[in-house]
Amino acid sequence: MPFLSAALSRIKPSPTNSATDRARRLKAEGRDIVPVSSGEPDFPTPDNVLAAASEAMARGRTKYTPVGGIPELREAVVGKFKRENGLDYQATQTIVSTGGKQVVANALLATVDPGDEVIIPAPYWVSYPELVQFCGGTPVALKTDVADGFKVRPEALEAAITPRTKWLILNSPCNPSGAVYSRAELKALAEVLKRHGQVWILTDDIYEHIIYIDQPFATLAEVEPELFERTLTVNGVSKAYAMTGWRIGFAGGPLQLIKAMETIQSQTTSGTCSVSQWAAVEALNGPKDFLPARRKSFEQRRDLVVSMLNQANGLQCPTPDGAFYVYPSCAGVLGKRLPDGRTINTDEEFILALLESEGVAVVHGSAFGCGPNFRISYAASADLLEEACRRIQRFCGNLR
Ligand SMILES: Cc1ncc(COP(=O)(O)O)c(C=O)c1O
Repeated sequence: MPFLSAALSRIKPSPTNSATDRARRLKAEGRDIVPVSSGEPDFPTPDNVLAAASEAMARGRTKYTPVGGIPELREAVVGKFKRENGLDYQATQTIVSTGGKQVVANALLATVDPGDEVIIPAPYWVSYPELVQFCGGTPVALKTDVADGFKVRPEALEAAITPRTKWLILNSPCNPSGAVYSRAELKALAEVLKRHGQVWILTDDIYEHIIYIDQPFATLAEVEPELFERTLTVNGVSKAYAMTGWRIGFAGGPLQLIKAMETIQSQTTSGTCSVSQWAAVEALNGPKDFLPARRKSFEQRRDLVVSMLNQANGLQCPTPDGAFYVYPSCAGVLGKRLPDGRTINTDEEFILALLESEGVAVVHGSAFGCGPNFRISYAASADLLEEACRRIQRFCGNLR
């Protein structure tokens, strides 16, 4: 349609949002749907955070806020980075946005020109390449291997860097693979990056608190201080604090970049929701004692799902170290036939047939740049997960 922009033609709607919307629609039509596609914790937002939001409303904190966030939240972000990550940012080196997604969008919109390349390890969070393309840049997917735990090897990174490389996006723990980079692995990548001063690094740490291995979370700007001046450290409250709907993300980074991101935000959304910002102050400054119990609960559900999926004909499900997704391979079912005679040729055909015949909503791996796989979010009740896996087992068992 001539009315629509060229920029729009370069992007697709988010496949994860689309899968969730499709499941919602089918459910509303009365279909028996088991939705395990959405990347959001099923836990409630903690009570102390709800109380802080109520208090903010009662005190009339319902007006426009400074573009980059209320001073109290920027200070809380400074405190969080210092306490949890050993990173020293000034408040002016932080920004608060409408979710981690807007932080990433701001950074790319502020820096990426046509022809610029952005290296994105695959499988990746679906929004990274789309946002790069929206800016006119070129996403360079760097495929990782299940044998390497879906992590980038330093020599592969070295080979992917060109004079046009502007950014590397690192996401640990990773959505969708659950890969978690150790300090040593980050250090090895840092050695490569130190040789290429034109490359900036966006580390998306939004699943920081959801790690199941006995290893402290590590982030690049702290592991290699030499890279601090060209690293944007992105985080948010959506996942750890079960605050997806509040829409609060934040970042710490070099002043000039943060100022540029603020300029973009000042002309798009302005400061994010005032009440949500006060709630996030409480989330970051308040008690964190609920986190280990929630992590344990995710871990039990992960183990349940991994075990049940590995009993399904043709599926192979590695055990992820972090986040709340499993990313099984469905290579073993491709080429098989459904009871109605149709052949399953791709992971997308697999997930659509699964939805059609068993009502289980998952997301195809090709959406994450690496397949044939699919993603299940296990941030759902154990009953729902069991039901989803039982249906997947039945579905795979009926393929010939
Ligand atoms: C890797 C990753 N980064 C960022 C986000 C965005 O989070 P938010 O809901 O805070 O925008 C998500 C959400 O799914 C994610 O998986």
